[in-house]
Amino acid sequence: TPRAAADLRQITTLQSHILAEEFKHPGASGTFSWILSALAVSAKIIASKMRRARLEDVLGALDSDNVQGEQQQKLDVIANEVLIRALGNREGVAIVASEENDEPLVMRDDPSGQRRYCVLFDPLDGSSNLDVAGGVGTIFSILRHDRRAPSATASVLQPGVQQAAAGYILYGSSTVFVLTTGSGVQMFVLDPSIGAFLLVEPNLRVPQTGKTYSCNEGNRKQFPEGYQRYLDWAQDNGYSSRYAGAMVADVHRTLLKGGVFLYPPTKKAPNGKLRLMYEANPMAMLMEQAGGKALAGAGRLMEIEPTEVHQRTSVVMGSADEVDRVVSFL
Ligand code: AHG
Ligand code: MN
Ligand code: MN
Ligand code: MN
Repeated sequence: TPRAAADLRQITTLQSHILAEEFKHPGASGTFSWILSALAVSAKIIASKMRRARLEDVLGALDSDNVQGEQQQKLDVIANEVLIRALGNREGVAIVASEENDEPLVMRDDPSGQRRYCVLFDPLDGSSNLDVAGGVGTIFSILRHDRRAPSATASVLQPGVQQAAAGYILYGSSTVFVLTTGSGVQMFVLDPSIGAFLLVEPNLRVPQTGKTYSCNEGNRKQFPEGYQRYLDWAQDNGYSSRYAGAMVADVHRTLLKGGVFLYPPTKKAPNGKLRLMYEANPMAMLMEQAGGKALAGAGRLMEIEPTEVHQRTSVVMGSADEVDRVVSFL
């Protein structure tokens, strides 16, 4: 039987998807599309450097620490520079804020009438996985720049619910770009032979349930009691444990297969370890846009009013039913 036209898979690149989104909004200036295209090109550059890291001796640590007291890996710094150089070139970017920079950087803040954005990112997530060729990623969050804000920091300190877009790139066995601009979640995969990200999933939905939990169980005895009771329950009920140790890899698996990703408070990190502005908020937006939930304790993660660029939060996110179940133990 002949296939109906609608059955034919269309070829959509990230670039054409971004443009098509822009055309849906009459009067849009294209600014936003330019920013996303800078992120796409950064992703390709970082992916290619990553693939060659061991060959070109850019693995391993530097002598420097970042503002959070973590030792920087060479590729943390390289990925950060790639993003700043690509985004710095875009008129629509007012401010960038990164895990690897103490303070937000003002790229341009003239009083032109143009709409401008703040781009926040974790240039390389899971960088301790680098030396073992494990999955790592890049996470980004895009906020509207508030020109009346008294400082760059004040402009970026917006709750996650105000994000205009969010996404991540997973440098795994393939390079995957997952994006939301507030109308669902799209997944693209890099075809390295043509240098383009191709749309493979136009409306990614996280399964409603999933019998997998993902957390650092080495910290289990430090978790608040409710989380420990949840883990006991899950282990008595046939759940599997999966943990890559890179948020992008762990959240990506959770998005696709269902289950729950947790980073609870610990004695060492009483507010949680993950950074609210460029790790937790963007992942929370993706999770909610895919039909899942994202909480910090029992409250909605994206409603946290931030007070510091590098502030930390605990995280529970994933399949709606599994997140509810964790909360029922807290
Ligand atoms: P980063 O490499 O950007 O500093 O992030 C590390 C984070 C995150 O990727 C991961 O989910 C978490 O650290 C793992 O922490 P533990 O090693 O404490 O489990
Ligand atoms: Mn780090
Ligand atoms: Mn990270
Ligand atoms: Mn990082």
